[in-house]
Amino acid sequence: MDNAQTAGPVRIGLIVGSTRPGRRGAAVAGWAGEVAAGHEAVRAGTAVVEVLDLAEQALPLLDEPVPAMFGDYRNPHTRRWSAAVAACDAFVFVTPEYNHSVPAALKNAIDYLHPEWNGKPAGVLSYGVQGGTRAGEHLRQILAEVRAVVVPTAAALTVFTDFDFSGADPGDPTAPGRIAPAAERAEALSAMLTEIVTRARAPRSDDDLVTAGGSPERMG
Ligand SMILES: Cc1cc2nc3c(=O)[nH]c(=O)nc-3n(C[C@H](O)[C@H](O)[C@H](O)COP(=O)(O)O)c2cc1C
Repeated sequence: MDNAQTAGPVRIGLIVGSTRPGRRGAAVAGWAGEVAAGHEAVRAGTAVVEVLDLAEQALPLLDEPVPAMFGDYRNPHTRRWSAAVAACDAFVFVTPEYNHSVPAALKNAIDYLHPEWNGKPAGVLSYGVQGGTRAGEHLRQILAEVRAVVVPTAAALTVFTDFDFSGADPGDPTAPGRIAPAAERAEALSAMLTEIVTRARAPRSDDDLVTAGGSPERMG
């Protein structure tokens, strides 16, 4: 699979990594989409953002008999997810922190594929009680293994300061709050998007790529 981004706008997949009913992930992704819409590359038409919502993909727990590195997909849901990811040149991963890591649904969705991630820039937008930074760090390790190129700048939202709970019942654990991030959060996300677009337009190194059918020795 040739993952070099050539003509046309850089297609950035905004991956919504949580799937539970009442999730904050949809609001975080919505905010990220608004920030992206104001980014100079998007306004100039040199980048476009497409939401890839794992709740809509509804992937079962990994049920492919052949490791993704070999690109031999047997199931329609895998082929659908593969096509959606392959169509993107870069990604912003929107991940909450669940027990100090990423949600199982996000890890599962990454595990389904391999060549579709190879060599593509990726940014991490985490959120949680403390910015979701432990999930963000885990995600960087996972993405390194599928040879995505994680850009240096990360963005992190903290549930109790970047959401507004005024008017909510303090005793209601399901109250999502209204997303209201501090200005520097948008600055961080915008800087991340600049890095992603710059990296997507840069020539690729062969070290970034592992083609479908790649050697099993590289799977460790
Ligand atoms: C299963 C689970 C585990 C969680 N573990 C953590 C955690 O380890 N650290 C943290 O900061 N927040 C943790 N939280 C709080 C979430 O980060 C917060 O509720 C966030 O909104 C969850 O994302 P979602 O609303 O998109 O599902 C946890 C939430 C859930 C549901």
